[in-house]
Amino acid sequence: MKRKWWHDKIACQLYPKSYCDSNGDGIGDLQGIISKLDYLKSLGIDIVWLSPIYQSPFVDQGYDISDYYKIAPEFGTMEDFDELLAEAKKRDMYIVMDLVINHCSSRHRWFEEAVKNPEGPYGDYFYFRKGKDGKEPSNYRSYFGGSAWEPVKGRRDLYYYHMFAREQPDLNWYNPSVLRELYDMINWWLEKGVAGFRIDAIINIQKNLDFPDYPADGPDGLCALGTVIEHASGIGEMLEDLKRNTFEKYQAFTVGEVFNMREEELEEFVGEDGHFSSMFDFSQHLLTMGEHGWYEAKEFDFAAWRKAIFETQKKMEPIGFLSNIIENHDEPRGASTFLPLYVQNAAGIKMLGTIKMFLSGIPFLYQGQEIGMRNCRMQSIEEFDDINTKDQYRLALRMGLNEEEALEVCNRLSRDNARTPMQWSNEEHAGFTTGTPWLKVNPNYHEINVQAQEKEKDSVLNYYRKLTALRKSPDYKETFVYGHFIPAYEETENVIAYYRRDERNCILVLGNWGREEEEIRLPRTVRKVLLNNLPEYLAEGQKLTLLSGQALVLLLQG
Ligand code: GLC
Repeated sequence: MKRKWWHDKIACQLYPKSYCDSNGDGIGDLQGIISKLDYLKSLGIDIVWLSPIYQSPFVDQGYDISDYYKIAPEFGTMEDFDELLAEAKKRDMYIVMDLVINHCSSRHRWFEEAVKNPEGPYGDYFYFRKGKDGKEPSNYRSYFGGSAWEPVKGRRDLYYYHMFAREQPDLNWYNPSVLRELYDMINWWLEKGVAGFRIDAIINIQKNLDFPDYPADGPDGLCALGTVIEHASGIGEMLEDLKRNTFEKYQAFTVGEVFNMREEELEEFVGEDGHFSSMFDFSQHLLTMGEHGWYEAKEFDFAAWRKAIFETQKKMEPIGFLSNIIENHDEPRGASTFLPLYVQNAAGIKMLGTIKMFLSGIPFLYQGQEIGMRNCRMQSIEEFDDINTKDQYRLALRMGLNEEEALEVCNRLSRDNARTPMQWSNEEHAGFTTGTPWLKVNPNYHEINVQAQEKEKDSVLNYYRKLTALRKSPDYKETFVYGHFIPAYEETENVIAYYRRDERNCILVLGNWGREEEEIRLPRTVRKVLLNNLPEYLAEGQKLTLLSGQALVLLLQG
């Protein structure tokens, strides 16, 4: 495999609005991020991905961009951004931006011009269609609920297409002028010195321009966009063209947010000369989301979770690098999702971190994961901000849940769980702001915060530092980055374990998700315990006892 600069890096996603507020307006900002670069460096982070910081009305928290060339004033100025780039560079760190190009904001100049004159040049930047038999042009349900078609104000029987919120009109990727605008913009940021992009919702750019109806899959008579995408084609050529005209020239690091792709396209997407450098592995997150909505969400199932990890890892081995996450800004906190109650504690969180850190692929942390931030319970639906949560709440009620049950579902799965402000200290508002935070701070900040964990030798934070240090240590880095991945102890019910090995090292990573201890026979003797999340180490010869919630990284005899 051709070596690339990003293969051995560790990344962290920041949600700027909730990271660190430097000016007391209750909203995180770029100066706040700059002030935390040393902290991120101390955590072993090389690549920092910023959720969108462009000018936006924030209907979908910045994923609705109204000017791709401007920094949202809430976050600072372009000078602040340039300073961030320079400060990152001084520390050998890379800044990765969020690239939201399936759609823009309805307040983008292009769209404002387009609705004024849908027949004019900007009309063709979007998808305007006539209604059908007095109804929307097709029966698609947007990702955020309701029809994906919105009537154009003041025009009879004319609609525009939006796969997400109505304030996020889809851009017409079949119009060469749109491509020129987007490619120019991407190159402009790359010229500026960003190292690459996380690419938002990108599978959606391919459309069947006839927008045919599909069988309804819900009582609303609509059909999910998943079905619509299954019937679209052409994504491969579109992504290749994008890459050739932008990323490739800069050796940019790109990581795609891709759902609903075809299995056989994996190589084409993230193989050696793939469309992207990498892609997120969401296989485990999809397990708990519920097929038609959060109201049907399933409980965490250890066996299914382990199977999903193993299958993806095995599938990827001959192909390339996926990016491994525990959580992100669209997911609830991993500590609250992927751990049974009896290990929802510091040990369990360290165990989860261990299992994810040494998989093959690129480890992506999410802000606050390194201190074990948990889901934040909201008392009523009004306390949530997220547009998706509000839709899922309404859907749950429609599907027969009562208010209490619907709220419960949202508390479990809301995207706001990961968006509550970063917990820096025990001070008011967790040290995130001196003003009023834009979203509730998790009241557990008195116990869970960076300041306290800095002082505590065995804190989750300091354990995370050990994880990243081990992953990067000169003796083992090569094995963790390029070594084989081999599942182990698959017949042991509550244990997840795997080998990373190459000619030099044989490393076994283990975690016990069970309530009871588990006894295991090692195939070889242990040369060194590289990491242990508990003080106990119970081994006699090749017999090893793993306590409940224990994680070990063992260097075995060759
Ligand atoms: C992606 C983002 C999500 C956003 C959506 C629409 O899934 O991660 O936060 O709502 O795209 O841009």
